[in-house]
Amino acid sequence: MRLLSCEPAVLCEGLRKSFPGRGVVLDGLDLAVTPGTVHGLLGPNGAGKTTAIQILSTLQRFDAGRVVVAGHDVARDPAGVRARIGVAGQYAALDEVLTGRQNLELFGRLHHLRTRAARTRADELLERFRLQAAADRPVRHYSGGMRRRLDLAVSMIRDARVLFLDEPSTGLDPRSRGEVWDAVRELAEAGTTVLLTTQYLEEADRLCSRISVMDHGRIVAEGSPDELKARVGGSLDDAFLELTGGPNLQEAVR
Ligand SMILES: Nc1ncnc2c1ncn2[C@@H]1O[C@H](COP(=O)(O)OP(=O)(O)OP(=O)(O)O)[C@@H](O)[C@H]1O
Ligand SMILES: [Mg+2]
Repeated sequence: MRLLSCEPAVLCEGLRKSFPGRGVVLDGLDLAVTPGTVHGLLGPNGAGKTTAIQILSTLQRFDAGRVVVAGHDVARDPAGVRARIGVAGQYAALDEVLTGRQNLELFGRLHHLRTRAARTRADELLERFRLQAAADRPVRHYSGGMRRRLDLAVSMIRDARVLFLDEPSTGLDPRSRGEVWDAVRELAEAGTTVLLTTQYLEEADRLCSRISVMDHGRIVAEGSPDELKARVGGSLDDAFLELTGGPNLQEAVR
């Protein structure tokens, strides 16, 4: 039997993607994420982070390249990939009419948990994300931070091998952000691989063992937070500004 543990949990080779009217968004993206680590994808607005996450999580087609997630080829076996991943998109995908608890139980059932198991898991996640008090209120009454926390809880409903988090803490206050960080760390300690995008350099610094810096659809630098800082002799902010060319201006074309 092959030893899967030494293979990357996420592998992207020469990934290319264009949108009609927009042109090239991913321009030969290469990425390898070590199993059980938290890996950050950093880059200015429009760099292609969300597009990459959507392709890796089977939600978007791609033009060329090879993408393998949890040992399954995304193009040839998307169902195999889907069975092993969790995703929290940049914008929450919750049912507004249902309560927080109902959303969690619904997603649990969609992931083939039995009713009782879905209920138990929902309770655990409501507690972890400090949502017990609001558990039985409809999501349309939730604040932005509460929605974000619930969305993350939903992405963790089933034990995923690989978790994709697109800007997991955007819009959260410092306390909620700290809770998200704790949850991500716990998951990684338990063996889950996490690939996250973030605009917060502090988040990448504290959470990620490796960071890939993206600009104009390709990786322009990669290393541990300390390696990237050493490269520019400054902070991660300095590294970000030096390594990327500012906002990707074509972003406005969408
Ligand atoms: N469905 C689409 N059709 C056309 N263009 C798109 C589409 N989705 C994304 N784009 C364009 O692709 C580029 C990359 O977008 P993407 O959302 O991947 O960037 P991002 O790095 O996630 O940015 P942000 O930091 O703002 O979230 C942008 O120019 C965007 O306008
Ligand atoms: Mg994005």
